[in-house]
Amino acid sequence: MPSFRVLLAFAVLFAPTVAVAQSGDGGRGSYLVNGLMACGSCHTPKGPQGDIAEKAFSGGLTFDEGPFKVTASNITPDPETGIGSWSADDLKRLLRTGVRPNGVPLAPIMPTGFYGLMSEEDLDQAVAYLRSVPAVKNKVPDPVYRAVIPRQVFPGAEKPYTATDIQAPVARGFYLATLAHCMECHTPMGPRGRDFANDLGKGGFELKGPWGISISRNITQSTTKGLGGWTDAEIKRAITKGISKDGSHLAPPMSFASYERASEADLDAIVAWLRTLPARD
Ligand code: HEC
Ligand code: HEC
Repeated sequence: MPSFRVLLAFAVLFAPTVAVAQSGDGGRGSYLVNGLMACGSCHTPKGPQGDIAEKAFSGGLTFDEGPFKVTASNITPDPETGIGSWSADDLKRLLRTGVRPNGVPLAPIMPTGFYGLMSEEDLDQAVAYLRSVPAVKNKVPDPVYRAVIPRQVFPGAEKPYTATDIQAPVARGFYLATLAHCMECHTPMGPRGRDFANDLGKGGFELKGPWGISISRNITQSTTKGLGGWTDAEIKRAITKGISKDGSHLAPPMSFASYERASEADLDAIVAWLRTLPARD
């Protein structure tokens, strides 16, 4: 059990988000999973109207890349086609390490390299929530692995944060933006994976899907190519509504509708962190 001091810090720290979450659909776990972590953006089947809510988390997008062909798994508690037979610890281990209970690592499409910093408390809440969603029977195709791709851990996500680590807005913004894996999409791919040290936030990464091809944009503080000349409100509107500074609509797959569930305080923290990113042109 966490000590009283830690619990207190946690309660104070998350007071604004807890208040928001309580007026919605229940708790910190749902707030994270359906909000900034946007698990359903990959794991929920889509119809013409977007997510099929009654089949939430029962299997989603297929990624057919050179080294693998994988489908986002059924992560509902259905014992046969989902993860109903997994323990809470199995699920926690997978989120932190990308390795299944049977020892088979996931294709690195699922951004587990970003989840290692998730605090114990948040991990517990997210896992408890996932284990409480309705079980849906839906068999997704088995994964095909043709080559092993090394898993890249995002710098700063090597170990879990504590509640005290995320008290200051910039640190909290880094924490939340990492759970939202912003920099996975917004950092270009180099010959040896993403060069987070030199290209962080530079954009230019291609994302192919049913929407066609989207190219991520520069979200560094560059005043010519990035967000340097944007107001905080414009940045938050892009994140939550998918509207760029000039009013144009942004294309998928960024999870605007999920991010819109984030509290104002959490969005402000993300912007505070984005403001610290050195300009890259
Ligand atoms: C960018 C897309 C994407 C996001 C976001 C994502 N996943 Fe996944 N996930 C996948 C894919 C694809 C697989 C299957 C990979 C494979 O078969 O190698 C997977 C596999 C899994 C598995 C393994 C299930 C099994 O039966 O082996 C679990 C559990 C899981 N994801 C949970 C989550 C949770 C919880 C979140 C949110 C915190 C999440 N995922 C976010 C794409 C994603
Ligand atoms: C799944 C990939 C993906 C993730 C995750 C993602 N983005 Fe994006 N983002 C994109 C793409 C692609 C575009 C450009 C879409 C277009 O050109 O229409 C974009 C556009 C933007 C823009 C608009 C920039 C402009 O010049 O109009 C901002 C701001 C932004 N993202 C911030 C973020 C932040 C902050 C996060 C994390 C909370 C994030 N993104 C997560 C893919 C992603």
